[in-house]
Formats: sequence, structure tokens, C-alpha cells
Amino acid sequence: MNPEQRKEMVMDAFVAAFGGPPSVWSRAPGRVDLMGSHTDYNQGYVLTMTIDRDTWIAARPRTDRQVVIRSLNADGGGVFSLDAIAHDAHASWTDYVRGVATVLGDAGFALTGFEGLVHSTVPFGSGLSSSAALEMATATLFSLLGGWEIDPVEMALLGQRAENQFVGVNCGILDQYSSALGKEGTALLLDCRHLSSRTAAIAPGLQPVICDTHYKRALTGSEYGERRAQCEEGARLLGVTALRDVSLEQFAAREAALPPVVARRCRFIIEENQRVLDLAAALPGGDPARLSGLMAASFAGARDLYEIAVPEMEAMMEAMLTGPGVIGARQAGAGFGGCMVALVAADQVDAFAGHVQNHYLAATGLQPRVYPVQAAQGAGPL
Ligand code: GLA
Repeated sequence: MNPEQRKEMVMDAFVAAFGGPPSVWSRAPGRVDLMGSHTDYNQGYVLTMTIDRDTWIAARPRTDRQVVIRSLNADGGGVFSLDAIAHDAHASWTDYVRGVATVLGDAGFALTGFEGLVHSTVPFGSGLSSSAALEMATATLFSLLGGWEIDPVEMALLGQRAENQFVGVNCGILDQYSSALGKEGTALLLDCRHLSSRTAAIAPGLQPVICDTHYKRALTGSEYGERRAQCEEGARLLGVTALRDVSLEQFAAREAALPPVVARRCRFIIEENQRVLDLAAALPGGDPARLSGLMAASFAGARDLYEIAVPEMEAMMEAMLTGPGVIGARQAGAGFGGCMVALVAADQVDAFAGHVQNHYLAATGLQPRVYPVQAAQGAGPL
């Protein structure tokens, strides 16, 4: 479906749902991290890239401060008043909309009620930031309806706050920052302490390809919080604000004094931070040996030190690394299944995708989804 067809489809569905056409459209993309797992909440670096899969909201304003929100992709939907925002009784996806409304209102932004219809091409719950895309599309929609502007970094921070405080997921800033500030045609080197970024070009001929394991582990929530707490303990024991502040040499000198699990987590984060800088430096030139080595080291650390790999991810690594045209491959998102990412020679993407599909299916019995992605512009009006 091309964008025009998609728009027509959403338009028709909106008219069917609400009895008239929408007057305002917002959009926000998902993201994939090319390097930097779990570095964001350690105030470190991430090499992130928006993807050309996004969440749209078509809407028209209401005068009674009610929000009526539905989705073409997910069941449920909700009606709530901006004057008394409660959680959805079933803790559904509408909590992201309610959470963003809550934090924007608390921050003093004037909110307008609306009827809205969501349509997303970001797969849910697979590590490509479908939640952040919905949050950033929602914040953008409120700004368009209210006629005010918001700094995109502030918008990202408020989205993170909505997720931390309203939804109850203790995520870092990576997803919302990427969705709000992503740039078409380029990756970003994000500094999560200073909330700043610079573009990081990807060598021509190098194509990022998403490889979705289609494996979801229910415990991700608690494991994520546990990793975060272990990193914070490491920083405390090392006497620094965040693991960002420790060099590999400094760490090596004190590693043996830490509890073994904490030491493994810290080592991964400190090494991964360095790999982000190294990959950002290597990407424009595209040296295959360098890229492949950095990505392989990232996965090895995720598996052995940070312990966020599952057997399905190992099977996917094997499938990706034996594929035609592959240059490098690693995990993406929080780990524990979900999507992974490969850099592939652009002219061999189809052969690569076919190989990964057959190989991974044979190894796991799961049908993966494999597709190239392009960096898209961050959130804005459609
Ligand atoms: C999830 C979180 C992010 C980040 C990644 C891991 O996507 O939402 O903040 O921590 O995991 O890098």
C-alpha cells in the first residue's frame, strides 16, 4: 500500500467511524538501534535510525474536552475527558494516549479534545518502538490541534515521562528521542546525557535490514528493570553518576571488586558505549571487517555479559550471518526476542531475506519477517 492508498483507507475508515472527515493528521516513526543496547539509561551513546514504518493519527477537534480514540490495528479504544484522565480499565494501548495527554497538561500545554483514528505500520511489541511512535504522534497531534509548538527534545522527554510515570515502564530516552528527532536518510549518533545528536551517514550500498524473530518473552518488563538496577548499583559502587563516566581501563582496574553479575552488566555497557562511537566512525566508510567485528562483539556481549539473548536470537544470528551479502548483524531493542538488525549489501537484500526466512524457520519453526528499512523524518504533521 503506498502512502496515498494508505491515506485514503484511513480517511474512509475515519468517515465510517465518526461520520465526517478528519481535519488534522500527525505521524511519528519507529526506530532501530544499529549499536548501543541499554546504553541510554546509563547516560551513554546510541547509534539510532528511524525507520520508514510509522504511526498516523487522523483527527478532528471536539469542543467538549473529550478524547475518543480508536485504532485500525488494535482492538479496544477509549473515551476519556481531558479534565479527569484515568487509566484504561484494561491497561490497553490507549494508556499511551492518556499518558501523553496527562504529562502535556501537567506541563501547561493547552489541550483540545478530539476524535482520532490511529493507523500504524510499526509492528507491535517487537522492539521497534511502536509505543514511542504512538506517544510522539499523540503529542504532535495535540500541538497541531492546540496551535502551539513544542521543542522536539521536550516532546521526547514528556513522552518518556508518560511511559515512566503513567504507563509504568522505566524506559530510557532512546525511543522517544529517535521518533521525535530522526532525520530522513541518515542514522543519528545520540548522546543520552546531553540529549543531543549528530547525523551519522551510512555508506552507500549498505542496507539496514530488520529481522524479526517473532519471539516474545513475557518477562521482558521485569528483566529490563533488573538490568537497569544492576547498572545503577555498578555506578554507585564505582562512585560515578552513570556508567558513561567510566573508561574501560578504569573499569578493568576495579572490576574484580564488584559482585560478578554487576561486573558483567557494567562491562557490557562500557564496551558497548565505545562500540557506538566506533561504529559511527566506521559507517560512512563501510569497511566490512570493521562493521562486522563491532556488531558481532555487541551480540556476544548481549548474550554472555548482559544476558538478554534467547535461543531464537542465536538462531537468527546464525541465519543472518550465513546469508548472502551480509556485512554484520546484532540484536536490537531491549533483547529477549523481538527484532534484530543486519547490514547487508544493498544489491543482495532479496537473496539475503530469502535465506534468512528459510534458515530461521527450519531452525526454530517460527516464521520470521525480514525487510529493509530507510531512515525517515521524525514526528510531524502528515
Ligand atoms: C527499550 C527502551 C529503551 C532502551 C532499549 C534498549 O527500547 O525503551 O529506552 O533502553 O530498550 O537499548
